[in-house]
Amino acid sequence: MSRKKITILDLQQRKSEGIPLSMVTAYDYAAAIFADRAEIDIVLVGDSLGMVMLGLENTVAVTMNEMLHHGRAVSRGAKYAFLVGDMPFLSYEVTTAEAIRNAGRFLKEAGMAAVKLEGGQEAADTIRAIVNAKIPVMGHIGLTPQAVSQLGGFRVQGKTAVSAQKLLDDALALQDAGCFAIVLEAMPAPVASTISQRLRIPTIGIGAGAGCDGQVLVYHDLLGLFDRFQPRFVKQYANLSQTIVAALTAYREDVTTRRFPAEEHTYPMDAAEEAAFRERLAIGD
Ligand code: KIV
Repeated sequence: MSRKKITILDLQQRKSEGIPLSMVTAYDYAAAIFADRAEIDIVLVGDSLGMVMLGLENTVAVTMNEMLHHGRAVSRGAKYAFLVGDMPFLSYEVTTAEAIRNAGRFLKEAGMAAVKLEGGQEAADTIRAIVNAKIPVMGHIGLTPQAVSQLGGFRVQGKTAVSAQKLLDDALALQDAGCFAIVLEAMPAPVASTISQRLRIPTIGIGAGAGCDGQVLVYHDLLGLFDRFQPRFVKQYANLSQTIVAALTAYREDVTTRRFPAEEHTYPMDAAEEAAFRERLAIGD
């Protein structure tokens, strides 16, 4: 059977069937190809690229142009996964018109199928307006990294009964506003599984336990490509930074000892042409 591109209907169906969704971030062409080969369901061009690709302290400074630049590379590589572009800080908060225009750029200019934005009840009107403009929206509640200053750091959310109730109310408001799915980040597992059970739409957890309808990890965390810090919820499936440093070290040693390039990496020259070349040089002398 030929492989088909994943659609928003497939995501909803997977929730009904109780088969968890896999989602990973990607920021470039190669990573998008790998995600597709691994049959990942959803690829998110996350604004986490500010930290893992651009070396920023957090996601606050990431711009629309940076997101679109990476989004275009990802959509050239991923042909089957459902593609979501992350709206950066202040690209959707200022006015509704600006939010719709910026959301639309992810579809028109970067080949995304949907956008994601952070926020609970306060973001519902904006989300409704974007959805009304025919742009699918994935919500994101709990630890919302763009609000890092307001939250006082990267902290688990919903640890008290009152704050857990607020997260449930946020999730219901986002579903009501038209979100097709919601990311639940860094919250106690019982809170996330209650939200997941109460919603019709899929939840995608990150640091939210096994009761969500899907899971997401940042590409660089999963593959061991980023070691500035590692949240408790990350499971590292490979240590590629070790592999890369070992390969680069071997390359440097080969270059300095002239083991590289070897014969097989070198273009030969016909002996007669080489002799003629040397003769020309000698005459030139
Ligand atoms: O930017 C990102 O990578 C994200 C995921 C962690 C959900 O928002």
